[in-house]
Amino acid sequence: MAIAGKHNHRQIQLLAANSAPLIVPSESAPSAVHEYLRSPDVQPLFAQGDALGVLRALPDAIFDCVMTSPPYWGKREYQNGGIGLESNYRDYIVHLAEICTEIQRVLKAQGSFWINIGDTYMSKGLIGIPWRLSLQLIDHQGWILRNSVIWNKVKSGMDNTNDRLGNVHENLFHFVKSQKGYYYDADAIRSKPRESRVVNGAIVSGTGVSGVRYKRQIELSTALTTSEKEDAMKTLLSVLDEMRAGDISDFRMIIRGQQRTTHSDSARVSGRAKELQSKGHYILRYHPNGSKPSDVWDIIPEDTQNRELHFAPYPEDLCRIPILATCPVGGLVLDPFCGTGTTMITAFKLGRKSFGIDISRHYLEQAVERFGELM
Ligand SMILES: C[S@@+](CC[C@H](N)C(=O)[O-])C[C@H]1O[C@@H](n2cnc3c(N)ncnc32)[C@H](O)[C@@H]1O
Repeated sequence: MAIAGKHNHRQIQLLAANSAPLIVPSESAPSAVHEYLRSPDVQPLFAQGDALGVLRALPDAIFDCVMTSPPYWGKREYQNGGIGLESNYRDYIVHLAEICTEIQRVLKAQGSFWINIGDTYMSKGLIGIPWRLSLQLIDHQGWILRNSVIWNKVKSGMDNTNDRLGNVHENLFHFVKSQKGYYYDADAIRSKPRESRVVNGAIVSGTGVSGVRYKRQIELSTALTTSEKEDAMKTLLSVLDEMRAGDISDFRMIIRGQQRTTHSDSARVSGRAKELQSKGHYILRYHPNGSKPSDVWDIIPEDTQNRELHFAPYPEDLCRIPILATCPVGGLVLDPFCGTGTTMITAFKLGRKSFGIDISRHYLEQAVERFGELM
């Protein structure tokens, strides 16, 4: 395990060339990050210290993506104190917001910021901490919220209450700095579509759509005029050709009087409903590279039984989509509350560099040990 004291550039270079990840003290972080940016190594770099202090000493616009999970407010105890121990949740939000200002500065213009944050009850009432922070970032820092992902943990933890539902979800917010031009690789996160095949000379989609049923519905329709029927049949044949050519992976046809519109039947609010009214049909094409994930993710928390001191479950799967979609290969990921380094492990496995900060040396040592197990 390479754990650095105060080092000059050359020593940091030599330590980084070691195969184990490096932990540097906060005062060495700027020079260590400078060297790290120039090295081809995707082994992570860790800094021990207060996130705000470490970030303030770093240059502008160096990170491609930030993925993090700050401590809950008033719920859990971590080594070395830090954020989350404030007696008032408003102070907690102020402290987090201060760190987010620095995150905004060190993030590239095309970068993304993902934050997983849990809520807390006070006097029986859910405080709404994730949204309070999120609105603060939107209203006062100019962040653009692209997604509010629901992390469905599937199983709830111990819950002895009998006057409310069990809590199984947490929020994961995706923020960007500007409306346009942020990096997003949607193809990297699509689920592979089921392949279409040819059966008795006819093309059949992976979900079994061959067009036979649609053809019959068009022919037998009493809600379409003769010319609308001809037009619908022409569209159907050309969509089947698109599928045969691999331009689309699947499709659905909506025919007047047969299927409902997918959004609204009112032509006033839905363009599709308008199309259905004027032409008698429309087509929903599926992307040839598969479908995008939705904003509800079912991920069972990591098993913490083997992790002696760290109590925050933060599964690698929660980091995969953020890193794949919003950090280019070889790019640099930041986690200012990295704990035992799950963000770094995921980044490393996906071929991205990463810089993790934590106030607790003990957790950073655990993170380095986790890398040892990976090698
Ligand atoms: C929810 S945990 C992160 C867990 C992490 N995702 C993992 O995979 O282990 C939050 C972390 O923030 C750290 N922390 C708390 N206050 C901090 C501060 N001011 N600066 C840096 N780290 C801090 C804690 O030590 C703790 O490890």
